[in-house]
Amino acid sequence: MKVILIGDSGHARVIADNVISNGDTVIARLDDKYTELEKRNDCWYGPSSSVHELIRDEQAKVIIAIGANAIRRKIVDKLNLSDEQYATIIHKDALVSPSAKLGHGTVVMPGVIVNAAATVGSHVILNTRLVIEHDCLIGDYAHVSPGAMITGGVTVGDGVHIGAGATVIPTKTIGAWSTIGAGSVVIDNIEAQSTAVGVPARVIKTADQTVSTTNRKV
Ligand SMILES: CC(C)(COP(=O)(O)OP(=O)(O)OC[C@H]1O[C@@H](n2cnc3c(N)ncnc32)[C@H](O)[C@@H]1OP(=O)(O)O)[C@@H](O)C(=O)NCCC(=O)NCCS
Repeated sequence: MKVILIGDSGHARVIADNVISNGDTVIARLDDKYTELEKRNDCWYGPSSSVHELIRDEQAKVIIAIGANAIRRKIVDKLNLSDEQYATIIHKDALVSPSAKLGHGTVVMPGVIVNAAATVGSHVILNTRLVIEHDCLIGDYAHVSPGAMITGGVTVGDGVHIGAGATVIPTKTIGAWSTIGAGSVVIDNIEAQSTAVGVPARVIKTADQTVSTTNRKV
């Protein structure tokens, strides 16, 4: 498979490694820091708007290789590609249950385990060595960071960012576009657009950006 990466920063380099280790080829790295399309060392570099001609000429698939969830969504909306024009990248050293489902544009990094009947949406990042347990639902544009433990039956809403090493106990729901701090342990449902940190995780920011320090246990 030929792959076009949108984005050319650290996260894109990690995804490029995944693509190459699977025996596939990165044929382009597009980023709006480039103004013109040019070929260097067998790879195209240019603005993201070049994606349409490259897909047509090279019959390649696309990954939005940008870590920030909201920006990933914005670019997907802007490019207006069909679902089939996106790749799904699963590193050869990830374990994905045959009964799990993964959406288009989603990337699964090395060492990840996705267990039975989990459903993972589109344009999701499942980062290095995390666990998605059985029956979890992971929404579109979510990013679950390295080493996180999402236990059975958890629902992670669209655009959620789960920090590195965080744990969510079974059947809890993290509302859309929320953030869970690195190392936190979520034992309650978390409202949409909140930030929760600590062990156990307490909400420190809500949708209207109110910062609540009183809600935290020290
Ligand atoms: C949760 C997070 C997004 C908060 O960032 P922020 O909004 O800039 O918040 P601040 O750094 O101002 O911290 C606000 C408060 O929360 C505390 N806090 C922040 N992150 C915390 C965490 N992970 N665990 C416990 N407490 C945390 C701070 O100590 C601070 O407490 P105080 O008000 O008593 O001083 C960030 O700290 C975090 O953990 N990000 C995850 C990063 C990650 O894992 N990236 C993976 C990339 S692959």
